[in-house]
Amino acid sequence: MATFATFKRLKDKGVAALKQGDYVAAKPYLIQAAECMIELAEENKDPRQRGEQEAYAKELIELAKDCDRRAKQGPGRRRTRDRARDGEDSETRAEDWIVREKPTIRFDDIAGLDDVKDEIYLKMIYPFQHPELAERYSINVGGGMLLYGPPGTGKTMFAKAIACELDATMFVISPAQLMSKWVGEAEQNVQKLFEAAKAEDKAVIFMDEVEALVPKRRSSQSSVMQRVVPQILQELEGFDRKAGQALMFLGATNEPWSLDPAIMRPGRLDARIYVPLPDAEARFRLFEIYLGQRPLDDDVNFAKLVEATDGYSGADIKAVAERSATRPFLESVAGAQPRNINMADVLAVIEETPPSVSKKDSVKYERWGLGED
Ligand SMILES: Nc1ncnc2c1ncn2[C@@H]1O[C@H](COP(=O)(O)OP(=O)(O)OP(=O)(O)O)[C@@H](O)[C@H]1O
Ligand SMILES: [Mg+2]
Repeated sequence: MATFATFKRLKDKGVAALKQGDYVAAKPYLIQAAECMIELAEENKDPRQRGEQEAYAKELIELAKDCDRRAKQGPGRRRTRDRARDGEDSETRAEDWIVREKPTIRFDDIAGLDDVKDEIYLKMIYPFQHPELAERYSINVGGGMLLYGPPGTGKTMFAKAIACELDATMFVISPAQLMSKWVGEAEQNVQKLFEAAKAEDKAVIFMDEVEALVPKRRSSQSSVMQRVVPQILQELEGFDRKAGQALMFLGATNEPWSLDPAIMRPGRLDARIYVPLPDAEARFRLFEIYLGQRPLDDDVNFAKLVEATDGYSGADIKAVAERSATRPFLESVAGAQPRNINMADVLAVIEETPPSVSKKDSVKYERWGLGED
């Protein structure tokens, strides 16, 4: 039977691992703690307490889901706590949860999307690199930008590449963490985040799934959200005014239509950039990047693969390349003579892997961009 002591032990372990940045270890504890809390809620006769307990459980599950995504983000991160250990700052405990990164992805690593790259250069990179020219022509430096588009098209990659091209420190924040009672008070979390970012010469704050923080339907907002959203908007409006500093806020979303339009007003996330599914040229490059490095038979024809993958996202093509290597790999593990990946391997994988984004959904993004939603 679940007891509050068991719940607390599991939750404490999960949160401790989370704060250390050990997302793989944190996840099972958070899930077990949530399960425990659900059991406690089921036994609770007081409906108000039961509701609260269920909400806690839900929040823990959100945090656990977030662990998967963060664990995937890979190495290269540097935690605030490490800086504290380095002796730079002893007063950083409250912002332990803020993850700093120095990404190493460059624009050249991103296939296609040349229009998007040009737009980002114009809005974000040149004004930072040439502040005197930007001033002369009254071009704004810094600010906010919203990357929107179907899943797996490279939005997160772009955010990292922007930070890398600017040589800026990147703060990766998830709404689930920002809003979590387990991590700290939401208002303080927001304040700490912007303080930490402002302390850097160049900083990019990246918030994925930004729609989770500022949904359109106010009725669905908790009271915490009602206090925190205006605070974030205020910080956003204030942050690019300080001279000599470059501070940028990037949001990414798969559901731009669920955003509160208030977040897109001038001075906030006012630059909106559509990151679409890759066109033929971009898919060619994606096959070069993800398949080209593997041993290939002469019959592998990239142009034909490009034709067969209309509507596939970058992430889909990466997955196709990975799965294509599985068959010859397993054969050779089983003792066969190692052979190259051939066209039949890749076509078979494409056949059994439909694109993850439907045509209908992809049109929905374009329509939203034209203001038709
Ligand atoms: N244009 C691209 N060039 C190179 N790799 C890409 C591209 N698009 C996607 N990928 C690959 O797919 C993976 C997923 O991309 P990414 O996480 O940036 O997508 P996303 O748009 O942020 O998706 P989501 O909306 O689900 O968060 C990347 O790690 C990368 O390997
Ligand atoms: Mg992403």
